[in-house]
This record gives sequence, C-alpha cells and structure tokens, in this order.
Amino acid sequence: MAAVDDCLHQNIFQKENSTNKERYRLLELYCGIGGMRFALNAAGIPYEIVAAIDINPVVNAIYKHNFGSQGHYQKNILSFTSSDIENMKIDIITMSPPCQPFTRVGLKKDIEDERSKSFLHILTILNELQRKPFYILLENVMGFEKSEARNALIQTMEISGYRYQEFLLTPQDFYIPNSRLRYYLIAKLREERFSFIESQQLLREMPNSSSYRFECPEWCHNKLTIYPLKYFLEKESGNLELYLIPDHVLLKYWSVFDIVDENNCNSCCFTKAYHRYARGTGSVLLSIEPSEGYRILQLASESEDTKERLTLLKQLGLRYFTPKEVANIMLYPDNFSFPSDISVKQMYKSLGNSINVYVVSCLMKLLFQKRD
Ligand SMILES: C[S@@+](CC[C@H](N)C(=O)[O-])C[C@H]1O[C@@H](n2cnc3c(N)ncnc32)[C@H](O)[C@@H]1O
Repeated sequence: MAAVDDCLHQNIFQKENSTNKERYRLLELYCGIGGMRFALNAAGIPYEIVAAIDINPVVNAIYKHNFGSQGHYQKNILSFTSSDIENMKIDIITMSPPCQPFTRVGLKKDIEDERSKSFLHILTILNELQRKPFYILLENVMGFEKSEARNALIQTMEISGYRYQEFLLTPQDFYIPNSRLRYYLIAKLREERFSFIESQQLLREMPNSSSYRFECPEWCHNKLTIYPLKYFLEKESGNLELYLIPDHVLLKYWSVFDIVDENNCNSCCFTKAYHRYARGTGSVLLSIEPSEGYRILQLASESEDTKERLTLLKQLGLRYFTPKEVANIMLYPDNFSFPSDISVKQMYKSLGNSINVYVVSCLMKLLFQKRD
C-alpha cells in the first residue's frame, strides 16, 4: 500500500502546484469520434492526450480528422497490459464501453457478451495499477445500472480507492431539446473530495442543477424556455433536399416517425440506426409552416387513398436532420467535421454511438471541482 500512497500524494501535490503549462494526462478508451475529448475541451480542463484507443477504422478516421493522429491508436483494448497503462502515467480515463450487452434491443448478455470482455479487462488493469488514474468518467446506456458489469465496476471503484457518483441524465435536464437518457459514473481517488455530498443512490439530476443549464444565446429572447430546435439547424439550405424522406419510406412509415417542427423544444434520441430505420431512431423535421403541416398530416391520416395520402405527405417536406444538425443537437462544436470520404450512413452511425458533449462537459466540471 505504501507505494500506492506515495504515488497518490505525489499526484495530488503535482496538481495542486500545477501551472497553466501542466496538464492532466488523458487516456481516452473507446474514443470513437472523440466526444469525450470535445467535452474536456468544453469544460476547459487542461490535458495532454497520451492515448486515444478504438478498434473501428471509420470512427478512427473521423477522430483523426478532428484531432490529428498524435496519441491515437487503432487497437483492441484487450491488447493492452497493466504495465502498458502503468507506463503511460495516466491522470484521467474516459470511457464509453460498448453498450450492446445492455441495450433494450440487445440480448442483454451483460458480462457474458464477448463485447464486455475489454471492459472487464480494463477493470482488472485498474485493480492492478500502482499509480491509479486520479479521475474517471464512464458513460453507458440506461440499463447498465442494473447489470453485472456495473457491479464489477463499483467493486473495482471500492477496492481501488475511489469515491464515485452514478447518474442517469438526459440532455433535456440541461434544457437541451433532445432526449438521450444515459448512465454516467464519475470517480476520483478518495483523497480528493467531491464538491457535493455523494450518494449511494443513482442521481437523476446534477447537484446544483440550475448552474448547469445550457445558456440561451442573445437572440433567443425568452431565456427561461428550452432552446427550440431551429437554433441547431443548418443555416445553408443548399443540400437539404438530399435529406428528404423518400416516397416509399414516407408511405410505409409515416405514422411511426416522430415528427417535429423547428419550434419544438424536444427531439428523440438519435441512434446509430437513424436514417435506416424509422421507428424509435430519432425525430424527423417538418419543413413547412408548422400549423399547416399538422393540418395536412391530419388529412393524410384520414385519407384512405394511397395516392392521395402520398401527395399530402409530400407537401410536408419531411426530412431527416442532417449529420451536422445531429452533431449540433449533441452539442459538438462548430468546427467538428467529417472527412470527405465518410458516407452519410457512417456519419449517423458514429454520432448515434457518441455522447452529448454538453452533458459530459458538465459532468467533467463536477468531477474536477474541489470542495471549498
Ligand atoms: C459507445 S462507442 C464510444 C463512442 C465515443 N464515446 C464517441 O464519442 O464517439 C464504443 C466504441 O468502442 C469501440 N470498441 C468496442 N470494443 C473495443 C475494443 N475491444 N477495443 C477498442 N475499441 C473498442 C467501438 O469501435 C466504438 O467506437
């Protein structure tokens, strides 16, 4: 234990005396398109990337397009040993392990699922490390909180000397017009306290939640309401036609789409199947004046004639949110972009697997805040 304690004290000492030049050493596991890193940037936490790791070449290309290749590794997390991670001298670990073992639509094989192996491997490594990372942030789907994988995570936190807090949060809690209910865990080594009193309960809101409210811009006159979706839409309407819902999809699935207009203050969670499946994968947008749109929609629902119904539905100009708009709603920064050779399907898929950057940046701030 002595060696661990020495490391901890050294670690705390370094950070307390940190100048602007000193940065936390970041290990971004399951980095995907870099949502966690964008969140750290947004939270203003100084870091240097030591390693960002993902196995998937498509998300890796997007990551590198935005952050460059320094410290980025296309690798299986299972290939890293404890001494590899020990030698990295990590201060922060962020991770969004694969969620399929815990999703509503999956088989819920939990830790028996092959895709949980790398996560369990990381927990073993965490247990073994002499120099533990000071801060950890983990994200997963709702359902994770009831899993064996979560129990293994909590056991690791307890054994390895972390204090932690679990949350179930959605961007709507932050006044962002999108639902994306997700499990989060923030953890720090016990020596440093949280700025709030942690609870064994899964929290459904941030401590002092009003201070984490997403701030409306100047033009949005009523600052007490949630942002309407129009704030997140592309200003250039150049290629929006590409995103119109094709006739055959309209006719077959019009009644299962979640249809919203630009004044709405909510939208459904955009999943990796957005644009491929209609039901429950994310909202679609009405392009015409909303009251007229809903009137036409009513007529379409009453029509028994397929041709007439299609004519009515086409008047709505129903379209998918563009990948850039989905990224905006997930609070990716303006300068986030995709490489030119990434297909639209891949864009939606990688965004659907990612995180709401604003929500995670608030959790990062909370994690790093010290008690007065
Ligand atoms: C839920 S996504 C993470 C998304 C990420 N937070 C983001 O902002 O894009 C999970 C990621 O884990 C990666 N992954 C799954 N198993 C892995 C493994 N064994 N080694 C490395 N990466 C893995 C997948 O390719 C996927 O990009």
